[in-house]
Amino acid sequence: MKYHIRLDQEMLAGAEHVILPGDPARVAKTALHLDPQAKPLAQNREYTSYLAKVKERNILVCSTGIGGPSVAICLEELASLGVKYFYRIGTTGAIQPHIEVPSVIISTGAVRLDGASFHYAPAEYPAVSDYYLTGSLVNAAKELNLPHYLGITASSDTFYPGQERYDTYTGYVIRKFQKSMEEWQRLHVLNFEMEAATLFTVISAFGLQAACVCSAIVNRTKSEIPNDEVLGKAELYLAQVIKKAIELHIDTL
Ligand code: URA
Repeated sequence: MKYHIRLDQEMLAGAEHVILPGDPARVAKTALHLDPQAKPLAQNREYTSYLAKVKERNILVCSTGIGGPSVAICLEELASLGVKYFYRIGTTGAIQPHIEVPSVIISTGAVRLDGASFHYAPAEYPAVSDYYLTGSLVNAAKELNLPHYLGITASSDTFYPGQERYDTYTGYVIRKFQKSMEEWQRLHVLNFEMEAATLFTVISAFGLQAACVCSAIVNRTKSEIPNDEVLGKAELYLAQVIKKAIELHIDTL
């Protein structure tokens, strides 16, 4: 029994794919969208899990909580139970003016503005997604006709200063992050979120495969706050794209 996620090998029933939302509340919704017969497995701290069946294969859905440290714990414990394919689904803030909201952003790699990935690999090591899993997300978005973008994501350990937000308690952003959003825009980074860099670095260092798709819920060049209509659509886009991507990936195995 793994200490944090409270899962063991028997409970996984041979599942090699995991879908990783950040939010525990998204686990049941995602699992039931994949398979109306999906069953709850465990719940401890930020880690809630369900088991679903897609094309005769067991698929685990397990939340990671927010940020690198809780993601890294989840990855360690899942990898040691035999999981091979790691798909993160989440929400994100787009930073390029042309990005529609809602839409899906598929990450080819991530800027390592986290701390946890440096416990696994030095700064020279890239945070890149797996080509094949990422391809299944792109093909899924195309087949579903969803607005989608493919490129580099910035993964920050903080929602506020690291993503250059000034609507905070002090209103101060340390010098390192002042004008950082403009720099990432000029370097053609598409979006901010908080987990992809840790996911890509840790899973590549393990020799396993990971990909990340996020729904853009705000475009930071236009607003800071998402509305409920956008949030509802964004959640549906994510559930649709991950279901199709897993089906496409299973077909290749
Ligand atoms: N998640 C983030 O980390 N940033 C956003 O702007 C939206 C979701």
